[in-house]
Amino acid sequence: MGFCPFVTFFWIHLEQGLKIEHFTYLSIFHNCDNMNPEDLGLSTDLLFFKSDGVTTGTPTITYTTICTTKNFSMCLFFLPQSAVIPLHNHPEMTVFSKLLLGSMHIKSYDWVDADSASSSQLRLAKLKADNVFTAPCDTSVLYPTSGGNIHAFTALTPCALLDVIGPPYSKEDGRDCSYYRDFPCSVSIGCTMDGALEALEGETAYGLLEEIEMPKDLKMEGIEYLGPQIIDEPI
Ligand SMILES: [Fe+2]
Repeated sequence: MGFCPFVTFFWIHLEQGLKIEHFTYLSIFHNCDNMNPEDLGLSTDLLFFKSDGVTTGTPTITYTTICTTKNFSMCLFFLPQSAVIPLHNHPEMTVFSKLLLGSMHIKSYDWVDADSASSSQLRLAKLKADNVFTAPCDTSVLYPTSGGNIHAFTALTPCALLDVIGPPYSKEDGRDCSYYRDFPCSVSIGCTMDGALEALEGETAYGLLEEIEMPKDLKMEGIEYLGPQIIDEPI
């Protein structure tokens, strides 16, 4: 098995990424944008991507970890047609996402008041994206308080999605994953006057998000990464 120069590039920079510098952001972004399915051993010729969408029950989402360090993890997700990853957050994280194959609907929100440690069951969030993305498409980046930190995916066709997450989820460090259900609304109590005016003009939408347990019908299965390997020396 060969190695993937892009993956190696990531590994080197992510290992150095104790503090993400602007250069590193740009580098990761640039390399995500240049990454092809073939770099990770994927192609539309694989049986998974030729599925006709006929499934029984809830489709199982498969994921594999390409590499992980204390600063970053790099994961590939395989979503069969109609699979859903429900709304979930990425506390204090930056995530670079690249849809490598397929077509999916992405909905994302950011908290209106990211600093509030609200104990309310419903918390106001601003809709960031509610669109269909089809590969090849640009890399998207979400940040701790912007860019759509809380998002949901619905696969319209079989999809492969690359996520570079920094820092990784860690329950012990207070970065556990929470799930939400949303109640979309156009204007909400608590909006600023500017926000309400924007919403009334149709430029903004909001949602009230309620934290929920991980949905019982969410089937996610981890498998060993068998694609091109990273090398452990800088190139
Ligand atoms: Fe996510």
